[in-house]
Amino acid sequence: MKDSDSDGIQVRSKRRDRAALTRTQKPASAVDTASLAEERELDWSLRPRSLAEFVGQERIKKILAISIEAAKKRREVLDHVLFSGPPGLGKTSLAHIIARELGVNLRATSGPAIERPGDLAAIVNDLDKGDILFIDEIHRLARPVEEILYPAMEDFELNIVVGKGPAARTVKLAVKPFTMVGATTRSGLLSSPLRDRFGQQYHLDFYSHAELSEIVRRSARLLGIVIDDEGAAELAARSRGTPRIANRLLRRVRDFAQVNEKATIGREVTLAALELLEIDSCGFDRMDRAILTAIIDKFDGGPVGVESLAAAVGEEPDTIGEVYEPYLLQEGFIARTARGRVATHRAYSHLGRTRRGSLL
Ligand SMILES: Nc1ncnc2c1ncn2[C@@H]1O[C@H](COP(=O)(O)OP(=O)(O)OP(=O)(O)O)[C@@H](O)[C@H]1O
Ligand SMILES: [Mg+2]
Repeated sequence: MKDSDSDGIQVRSKRRDRAALTRTQKPASAVDTASLAEERELDWSLRPRSLAEFVGQERIKKILAISIEAAKKRREVLDHVLFSGPPGLGKTSLAHIIARELGVNLRATSGPAIERPGDLAAIVNDLDKGDILFIDEIHRLARPVEEILYPAMEDFELNIVVGKGPAARTVKLAVKPFTMVGATTRSGLLSSPLRDRFGQQYHLDFYSHAELSEIVRRSARLLGIVIDDEGAAELAARSRGTPRIANRLLRRVRDFAQVNEKATIGREVTLAALELLEIDSCGFDRMDRAILTAIIDKFDGGPVGVESLAAAVGEEPDTIGEVYEPYLLQEGFIARTARGRVATHRAYSHLGRTRRGSLL
């Protein structure tokens, strides 16, 4: 392994997902006031380091373990991997875990960070055999940059244009075989030529309460926090199926317990802290409730398009689509129709409203 950081993995640059950024930079809710630096530090300190430490996503772990083992046995590079799914479910963690399990270096960058094809060509040219190139937010790669990737991923070859005008010609440059790991919160926005070049594609699902409880207990151990099973279960149930949110809430609850001089975090302290943070029984924060309320009150239950909804709640349409909507959809609080989003009966009953007319 070459010059590696304390993790044993080489990391030269890392830009955060825009959706995650928006969620932490804009204090839409009390929980979002955690600073970006604090959140990043928390992500790093609690990030699982091996497949064994990674909780949940059992099917993905099983397949990955087999392909990693096989690649090692054959001394071949691992097939390119694409991870998709909402923010905070473990895409970046898995990319680093793959590098560790393979014992190779990881070079991290992100779609919007690569401005010109030459920048990407330079990165790819610099990789050693078997290295991992991790591209976060891969759906945001500029098209000319993306095109450099096609032959690089398929034939480990860079097509470099030399010269200008009629004298311009393409020079093929061989690069060492590498593994590309892409992560995206919007797999639908990926062009199909790019998607097709990933031999392994995994969609991460939201975590169950039991899995999140386990994650909360693990994080508590690492942070030296004492939390009982009931406290962990309560936090898990209110974390929107998302490990990053579970960890973030754990930190806030710990602060609350400390100020209130409670040595152990139990159910009562957890509930009191969550109430202060305006996280409700479903784990919804102020923005989740604003979205549901807007659909019901301003748009008569829907259908409403994401642009109008975003304007009504003062949030970016992308953030609504990437960060908030997936969980509200999965839990059945909203539904998508051809004409837009509608509030379901669960949304009405959660907000204590009665609905007029016949809706879903
Ligand atoms: N399966 C897991 N087990 C334990 N902790 C996890 C797991 N998945 C995620 N985490 C925790 O959640 C944090 C966020 O995960 P990660 O950064 O990998 O998510 P992501 O999918 O890359 O998010 P984004 O789309 O915002 O980049 C990690 O630092 C880790 O602490
Ligand atoms: Mg990530």
